[in-house]
Amino acid sequence: MREMSLVVTYHRQNNVVEIWMPQKRKDHFYEGWLYHILVDPLLRRVHRLVRSQVKPGSTLIDIGCGTGELLFSLADVCSELVGVETSKRMWSFADRQARARGFNNVQILFGDGAKLENFLAGSFDYAIACMVLHEMDASQRLPLLKEMQRLAPHVILVDYRVPPPANLAAAMCRFIERLAGRRHFRNYTSFINNGGLLALYESFSLSGRMEITLYSRCLHLVKTQ
Ligand SMILES: C[S@@+](CC[C@H](N)C(=O)[O-])C[C@H]1O[C@@H](n2cnc3c(N)ncnc32)[C@H](O)[C@@H]1O
Repeated sequence: MREMSLVVTYHRQNNVVEIWMPQKRKDHFYEGWLYHILVDPLLRRVHRLVRSQVKPGSTLIDIGCGTGELLFSLADVCSELVGVETSKRMWSFADRQARARGFNNVQILFGDGAKLENFLAGSFDYAIACMVLHEMDASQRLPLLKEMQRLAPHVILVDYRVPPPANLAAAMCRFIERLAGRRHFRNYTSFINNGGLLALYESFSLSGRMEITLYSRCLHLVKTQ
């Protein structure tokens, strides 16, 4: 039996798109407003970097969009923006923010980013996952990346650089990941031990990728050209 139930949530270019809604996931205590206060300000530089990589007028899907801040920072650049979130707390926070702040070209969907089969292939110009892959179960990473590749010709991933540099910033990041809970830390550790983003890209034999490092070489953005 599937763990998901089907919901109709999204109208796109006069078509109704159905997406799978996660039912069993337990949300974390820090998701929603606490994440917005503590983490969003730290990621503003990352969001600016993503913005510099996106062509004006393009369409974009942000998998694991969190509180929606990356989408909102792109609202004046992109023509259409879709965020997908599997956490109910994150989804409802981002959805409320989008409405309250009047972002008419942003839609936030509650669903699993690896199960977007009802979106046609090539529906977007860009598919982005920012700080998402390190917190997923190892078995979910490749299906997510595969789905992103199907949805858009350009894939942009941002996450921890592997191996982590031997500096204070990397030690702080590791400490923060530990604070996020046992399961979260186990996933982070498996992400690091399995070679991070570059190993995932290798398994797809993706060519022509471009890499930019930031935050004392702790994070990097990797983009297919
Ligand atoms: C660390 S947060 C990053 C949020 C946001 N991208 C940012 O840059 O601030 C990772 C988010 O990915 C979401 N996520 C994890 N797996 C997902 C999946 N399979 N589909 C959609 N969202 C997912 C989590 O719920 C969480 O909100």
